[in-house]
Amino acid sequence: MTIKKSLDLQEKAKQIIPGFTQLLSKRPDQFTAGVWPGYFKKAEGAYVWDLDDNKYLDMSISGIGANILGYADPDVNAAVINAIQNGSSCSLNSYEEVELAEKLCELHPWADRARFTRCGGESMVVATRIARAHTGRSVIAFCGYHGWHDWYLAANLESSDTLNDHLLTGLDPVGVPKELAGTSIPFSFNNPEELEAISKKYGDRLAAIVMEPIRNDKPTAAFKAAINKVKETTGCVVIIDEISAGFRLTPGGAHKLLGYDPDIAVFSKALGNGHPIGAIIGKNHVMDAAKECFISSTYWTERVGFVAALATIKKYVENNVHEHLISIGSSVKKGWQDAADKVGLEISLSGIDPMAHFAFKHEKNLHIKAYFIQLMIEKKILSSNLFYAMFAHKTEHVREYLEAVNWAFSEIKAALDAGNLESKLIGKPANTGFLRLN
Ligand SMILES: Cc1ncc(COP(=O)(O)O)c(C=O)c1O
Repeated sequence: MTIKKSLDLQEKAKQIIPGFTQLLSKRPDQFTAGVWPGYFKKAEGAYVWDLDDNKYLDMSISGIGANILGYADPDVNAAVINAIQNGSSCSLNSYEEVELAEKLCELHPWADRARFTRCGGESMVVATRIARAHTGRSVIAFCGYHGWHDWYLAANLESSDTLNDHLLTGLDPVGVPKELAGTSIPFSFNNPEELEAISKKYGDRLAAIVMEPIRNDKPTAAFKAAINKVKETTGCVVIIDEISAGFRLTPGGAHKLLGYDPDIAVFSKALGNGHPIGAIIGKNHVMDAAKECFISSTYWTERVGFVAALATIKKYVENNVHEHLISIGSSVKKGWQDAADKVGLEISLSGIDPMAHFAFKHEKNLHIKAYFIQLMIEKKILSSNLFYAMFAHKTEHVREYLEAVNWAFSEIKAALDAGNLESKLIGKPANTGFLRLN
């Protein structure tokens, strides 16, 4: 097996594309540089073909959570191709944007209005702009990762490691105006005291609380009560970021299951099954502020995103896709633990079932991760320590995958016991977080 074409292209890309890829999570060094193919020619169902025509079963990041149904889903593709053949852009607007607004408000009866963009991070910019316009205030209290934009990276201006506890480490705020220091204040999930302290300190300057509904743990009653109290006492807006969690546990936002009372919820990733679309839905009195703001972009009017989202939601609802994702994800999580227990490896599990994660509890965990990925690629399976479930993942895929995981974990244990794991690495140890490569 060779991945020469992929590796040659990676070298070229490093020279011509500063930062290497458009998304950190798809950078080959996040897996194992030298072994991870990096580029694809074709993707269909749960399978991916690289530039050297190797075919893999993809049990890794599934388009980092975008492809919730599967790659090149025939129903979504048919709707998209039809839209393209009838013109995906012209001087008028796509009527499907109104249908999608209605559909999202129907799935979230608390919401009255919707705006659309093309991706997650920019949708969060729209949401925070609306919250700031509505309240006439600047400060955002946030928890978790919300994109690459100034409002968010501003959190690292006063102390460069503020964001390290929020999913991605090492984010340098270079290029972000220093004047934004003090406008984005972090708090930890399930920590009502921190939230209350922010409310006391910034109360009359607080525009919004921004958070994911869930990443690992469910929110406690005390945490939700603190959110509601801060909202009540300060008049800030509660923005629930459903970009990753949305459409994984239920048709729509996970907040519906978890008992939040949002003013705004934001979707992207799963919404278009790989076609770019972002949505900001919210309550009338808050979303009305969008009329005063200048929020406008040419490609937000393009048709494919709306059509793909409508087709994705239709198939999702008809097939109760969330039930499948939860079932597949929980089998994988259990399989990881069983495989680790069988050979005596220590791992920790986290993440909701459809977006599961494990870590090797070992000081050389990034070497072990690289070796794991390398072994799985030998079996023609793309894997990582993350697994995003798709509707296209069937039980036979999970069986094939877990068989390979069991084999890989026993190889890892043997190499650790022999003290020769590093010498077995063909590529580099995995990187984690943001790191400049050249
Ligand atoms: C919770 C959350 N918010 C925002 C984003 C940013 O979305 P995008 O990468 O589409 O800009 C992500 C991406 O991983 C995310 O997980």
